[in-house]
Amino acid sequence: MALLPVHTASRDPVLLPTFPETIQGVIQSDLNYSVVLKCLTAVSPNPVLHWTLNGQPCGTGSMLIIRKLSWQHLGTYTCTAKNSQEEHSSKSVTISLSQGNVDPTDAEPIEPNPIFSLSGRSAIALVIAGNLGILIVIAGMGFTIIQSQRRLVPFTPVH
Ligand SMILES: *[C@@H]1O[C@H](CO)[C@@H](O)[C@H](O)[C@H]1NC(C)=O
Repeated sequence: MALLPVHTASRDPVLLPTFPETIQGVIQSDLNYSVVLKCLTAVSPNPVLHWTLNGQPCGTGSMLIIRKLSWQHLGTYTCTAKNSQEEHSSKSVTISLSQGNVDPTDAEPIEPNPIFSLSGRSAIALVIAGNLGILIVIAGMGFTIIQSQRRLVPFTPVH
């Protein structure tokens, strides 16, 4: 009963996949770069999605797109999904500026987070996207959602 790309995530009623991906809840980026936060929820039916930045409301909708990161965008975001029966919030995600310029070859390998790991084509889309552009990322995320919905409708238990 979850519109989520990964079955291990179904215990979390609201997930917040991001581009770039978070490392321990933090997105490190630089000014003028793009950041995308996506809210995925198992709240059903009719979830309404609200975003907050540092506790202040900062928009509604399933996706928060920052085209050019500036100082005013830095801070801690959460997504809250709400309908007439229930209300749940995602874990928070903090956007901060990269600490200096780390040489990528010196960087520690990062374990993929099982909750946010995307499967198949969408993962490739994210890799290809790199710095090329935000549209590919959005397409990749959309693909994941469409794909997961397709898998779950009609819903058939897999036991
Ligand atoms: C970001 O963009 C502005 C204007 O487009 C430019 O003046 C500034 O130097 C850029 N900052 C960085 C860190 O690239």
